[in-house]
Amino acid sequence: MTKVKFLSGETVPLEMHKVRMVQKVNLYPVEDRLAAMEEAGYNTFLLKNRDIYLDMLTDSGVNAMSDNQYAAMLQADDSYAGSETFYRLEATLKDMFANDYFLPAHQGRACENIISQVLVTPGSTVLMNYHFTTSRAHITLRDGLVEEIIIDEGLKINSDHPFKGNMDIAKLEEAIARLGRDNIAFVRVEAGTNLIGGQPISLQNMRDVSAVCRDHGITTVFDASLLADNLYFIKVREAACAEMSLRDITREMGALMDVIYFSGRKLGFARGGGILTSNADLFAKMRELIPLYEGFLTYGGMSVREMEAMSVGLQETLDFDVISQTPIFVAAFTEELIKKGVPVVTPPGGLGCHVDAAAFCEHLPQTEYPAGALAAALFIAGGVRAMERGTLSEERRPDGSEPLAEMELVRLAIPRRVFTLSQVKYAADRLAWLHQNRELIGGLTFEEEPSVLRFFFGRLKATSDWPQQLAQAFRRDFGDSL
Ligand code: F0G
Repeated sequence: MTKVKFLSGETVPLEMHKVRMVQKVNLYPVEDRLAAMEEAGYNTFLLKNRDIYLDMLTDSGVNAMSDNQYAAMLQADDSYAGSETFYRLEATLKDMFANDYFLPAHQGRACENIISQVLVTPGSTVLMNYHFTTSRAHITLRDGLVEEIIIDEGLKINSDHPFKGNMDIAKLEEAIARLGRDNIAFVRVEAGTNLIGGQPISLQNMRDVSAVCRDHGITTVFDASLLADNLYFIKVREAACAEMSLRDITREMGALMDVIYFSGRKLGFARGGGILTSNADLFAKMRELIPLYEGFLTYGGMSVREMEAMSVGLQETLDFDVISQTPIFVAAFTEELIKKGVPVVTPPGGLGCHVDAAAFCEHLPQTEYPAGALAAALFIAGGVRAMERGTLSEERRPDGSEPLAEMELVRLAIPRRVFTLSQVKYAADRLAWLHQNRELIGGLTFEEEPSVLRFFFGRLKATSDWPQQLAQAFRRDFGDSL
């Protein structure tokens, strides 16, 4: 996006693209939305797209592709081994991150599986700014431990810290001294820290983490899935980087870290993923696993068409006009909600707007999943699909007890280049209505609880008839409006 001045003197963000292909969406009456939510076991992952008006579940694999990406798909070179498409993608990534080797994988968690298999031994610890659900699951699956060493400010819902995703360097040094270098599998740095609200890490912090780890001979792993948003924040919030190009920032990040991986469902506006490194030994070890889990080394489980689209999309990521749209929309969304008194995570991050469900549903205990209940209520109130990022997204401990999440968030993701500002305003309006009627939102309890990543396909039920009462209140207040 770019910013222009209006006659009124107001500075307004403008999209730097036009929409040339559209998809019809449905907005069904509240009674139908209630029925769909019931059928989905009060889990927004189990809703069907046809019942959804605004799909703000995630930005994963649903970003809009550009004309140039579609054009590139037509020149895909389909072959099991040695396809030109792979070499184009490899060249793009090696140049982008200034690394020597690239391994393809079908998505981000596939990279996490490969990296964990090579680096995690039972009882070893992975230090990280903050976990992502799949990254932690792969480490614990190999009997590794996860320790989060994010700055204290990162876990405050409201803060004015520009880089809440930063690692606490003192905690990093303390953890290395306490655990011993040999017991640390690796240090994982996540760009655009997802679970604390898409909050960025500064380039300076990455330099500091890299220096400490290189001093101790500890491997660093960079999760660059949310790099696009993070790059935007480095440009606008890190004064020392204001004059650096996005390309130079990315290449420096690549040189600071020993292993880089990403979900191409987020980074590069397509679907896929991969791992980069300049460490020949690690490359050789990881390479052995790619044909076993992903596919041959020149496709890694990806379609060649997606690989072509990703090559172009990765280059578009280095264009400020392209990467600024989501963070600017998130900021507009967040400001609209603050005006309406809805509790949200600040400062606004990338990825999406994050509502503080613990404050929103103060009357609900965490054991009744306030963030899950709020996500269900929002679908009933507006046909907007959001994602629970709270206690439901936690895994039970080996003894069966349930950890309570540090934050109870509802994430309304803004896929890149997909929504309009009026759609964002609609979502904010329905959330504001819900906030005025928040006492009506009740709890949820599990009906069917899977043992791994339960938030994906667990089924829940309401603790009372609150969903019906909520739908009636909506009808009362909005008349025959949808
Ligand atoms: N790392 C981060 C920071 C992520 O946000 C994700 C996915 C992954 C790794 C895993 O990548 O989905 O391609 O296997 N995040 C999605 C989300 C699922 O909705 O936030 P994947």
